[in-house]
Amino acid sequence: MDRFLIEGGKKLHGTVHISGSKNAALPILVATLLTDEKCILHRVPNLRDVRTTLKILEYLGKKITYQNNTVVVEANGQLKNNLPYELVKQMRASFWVAGPLLARFKEADIPLPGGCAIGVRPVDIHLKGFENLGAVCDVKAGNVIIRAEKLTPAQIVLRFPSVGATQNLLMCACLIPGETILENVAKEPEVDDVIAFLNKMGADIRADEKGRLVVHGKTALHGAEHTVVADRIETGSFILAAAATRGDVTVADCVPEHNAILLSDLREAGFTLEVTDTSVRVPPYEGEIKPVRVRTAPYPGFATDLQAPWMTLMTLCSGTAEIDEDIFENRFMHAPELVRMGANIYTEKSVARVTGVKNLLAAHVQASDLRGGFALVMAGLCAQGESEVERIYHIDRGYENLEQKLAALGATIRRYNPDKDEF
Ligand code: UD1
Repeated sequence: MDRFLIEGGKKLHGTVHISGSKNAALPILVATLLTDEKCILHRVPNLRDVRTTLKILEYLGKKITYQNNTVVVEANGQLKNNLPYELVKQMRASFWVAGPLLARFKEADIPLPGGCAIGVRPVDIHLKGFENLGAVCDVKAGNVIIRAEKLTPAQIVLRFPSVGATQNLLMCACLIPGETILENVAKEPEVDDVIAFLNKMGADIRADEKGRLVVHGKTALHGAEHTVVADRIETGSFILAAAATRGDVTVADCVPEHNAILLSDLREAGFTLEVTDTSVRVPPYEGEIKPVRVRTAPYPGFATDLQAPWMTLMTLCSGTAEIDEDIFENRFMHAPELVRMGANIYTEKSVARVTGVKNLLAAHVQASDLRGGFALVMAGLCAQGESEVERIYHIDRGYENLEQKLAALGATIRRYNPDKDEF
């Protein structure tokens, strides 16, 4: 298995260009199941989760070409309406095919996504929504079989603004003639990007003045071309890495307003930021990093996906910072690894108290999830000496060309595989 070797203690400097959003690209790729016509998607990041999604689309009967971040999805015979566990277990977002398949075939047979390292992550909100739309959901031998004699438009109130459930139900409702209204929906920019793509496919989705999503379902959707929005989590990750290494980095080709809370928290921590419509510069800053309390919340709140990198920054603060993780129940797995690197962190249930230290220490650590893995890379960049981060397959799920982008900013980082004994 690949690892990263990082020679830390260098300030990052230069410009990094942000890739298309993983969390927008995945559901947008899935949305192509709603039509047999050709769809062309640009700025699709070359990541493990994207490649898994392309395999899923191929399994279901699509023809895919993927070159230079552009994916062309075309029909390739009759679509299937079931997925094998092998494909679902690799990625929870595989379950998002349920919405489009149910809409098209009135039946979908999908393995339940298993537990995941960062929490239980059930799909009850998705299933309840499908039931509201007239489907019956049966769980048999780990699979959920979702069937409907007839799908009917409905008014659905989500018990929590789940990102995945909002996207899954929207995709389904687009092909149910009549008016479906979704309430208490996720407002993440990735949901907006899915809506933009669906509307280009001929869907009619708009947000009303109460923030509800109103869908006027159609009998068919057509092909469309779309460019995926910038990845706000990659953006935030590079901003935080620049800040923690006390570097001078311009994060370009992003949408700064999608990281508004993060930018405000960083200013409160002492950093001066230069923000344009499409870039954020973190200029050199040698002052103290003030402790700032964050609490993760649905958008526009502090992103749970940036909680781990934020924790790495706070390990270097000048006091004690509190971090409340209110979205996932087990998302502090990076904390013990950061402690092995000299951090002072105390966690209890959903709260972490991080007391800043002067320096982090290089160490051999293990990534246990995607964003926690990035937090360890960030710590390795800050620590004097050579750190080794294992299990970087987690990180490969969500950061495109990470080591190339960091190396271009002056970091010394290389990938190696001890089993192959080669660099
Ligand atoms: C998406 C993102 C993920 C991000 C998360 C929260 C993708 C591919 N992934 O995940 O990176 O961390 O949003 O911003 O876009 N829940 C239920 N029942 C459900 C669905 C969710 O209880 O049916 C709970 C989850 O266990 C979790 C919370 O709701 O505690 C948020 O989950 P959700 O917003 O659905 O996250 P995902 O869409 O899975």
